[in-house]
Amino acid sequence: MTTAIVPGTFDPITSGHLDIIQRATHLFDEVVVGVAASKQKHGTGPLFSPRQRVELIQQATAHLSHVRVVSFDILLIDFVKAQKGDVIVKGLRAMTDFEHEFQMAALNGRMNSDVETLFIMAAPEFMYLSSSAVKEIAVLGGPVTGLVPPCVEEALRNGF
Ligand code: PNS
Repeated sequence: MTTAIVPGTFDPITSGHLDIIQRATHLFDEVVVGVAASKQKHGTGPLFSPRQRVELIQQATAHLSHVRVVSFDILLIDFVKAQKGDVIVKGLRAMTDFEHEFQMAALNGRMNSDVETLFIMAAPEFMYLSSSAVKEIAVLGGPVTGLVPPCVEEALRNGF
């Protein structure tokens, strides 16, 4: 039985994240979506609380079997161990992601060389998509249909 950990901030989950999670379910027996609770981005706090992010991912992945959603506030590599994970799976968009992902994969590998990081290439239609861009569009009243799962669109429009 192989368990993949798909970690991220997921503030909020996008259609691109969901595509990666879904494709991971075809490759592994179990997928644990790890929601990093405390990550600060660009000096601002997250839009959704860890509990809200977990709930939105649970709703968005309700149609998928063998997916668990768990938040964590420790090193990813320790979380992988705690969840009895075998590999870390991440989505990789165009070149901009590469350097940061390469650094994280190398450091995580240095801390525990038993845990491999695997990348799934983002689908072309999601190459440009990010949680930050979605939040900016939503906050300024723009359309996010298709960029995020329907439950997230609803939470962005009407509050959680
Ligand atoms: O959605 P993101 O921002 O790409 O996710 C980044 C995340 C959460 C995977 C990364 O920040 C992380 O692993 N955080 C947990 C703390 C940790 O282990 N940091 C050291 C990474 S080398």
